[in-house]
Amino acid sequence: MLHLPNYFNLAQQQELLTIARNIAQLNGGMTTPTMPNGARYNCSQTSCGLVGWLSDRKGYRYSKINPENSQPFAAMPPQLTEIAQKLALLVDEPHYQPETCLINFYAANCKSRLGLHQDNTEQNLKPCIISISLGDDCLFSIGGNNRKDPTTDLILRSGDALILHGDSRLAFHAVKKILPGTSNLLKNNGRLNLTFRQVY
Ligand code: SIN
Ligand code: FE2
Repeated sequence: MLHLPNYFNLAQQQELLTIARNIAQLNGGMTTPTMPNGARYNCSQTSCGLVGWLSDRKGYRYSKINPENSQPFAAMPPQLTEIAQKLALLVDEPHYQPETCLINFYAANCKSRLGLHQDNTEQNLKPCIISISLGDDCLFSIGGNNRKDPTTDLILRSGDALILHGDSRLAFHAVKKILPGTSNLLKNNGRLNLTFRQVY
């Protein structure tokens, strides 16, 4: 795992926020998906790129069509492709293709979180997962490749990048909680996370 605290300066964070808002708008807003067991997520989501990540009663999958508006997902903005490829170089992945970016929004309340999971919906499980944090700090937990492996907690702050690559590519991870009011980047607090994945 590669954690790069404060990789993006404030101006870059503001630009990323504008890009993320624009994507959400193009997609007709963010949605709160359902897990295969019917439970609601405690965050809202949208995606951009060739495909978007979906979760519902039918399971987890990638789709070219956004079920919210029956249109393709917003295209990956060139700035995002450039950022992801530059980060991938840091973990020796010069051919990285960020085919999708999942945008998660966690409102500034005690319910917001994401349970322990592995990113394994991708057809190709080799390319790294790149995550960018914006807004409020979160308590993030990362373990090993088995759900029961011991976990380590770390704080992800606005402007941090985190790369799961190599041995950590399939590490279980979770967003345990948001620490409201720890950043001024988002007007009403909360946290945005951008996760890039090469799916194929
Ligand atoms: C995710 O694991 O999909 C998102 C992680 C995060 O919000 O930091
Ligand atoms: Fe994840």
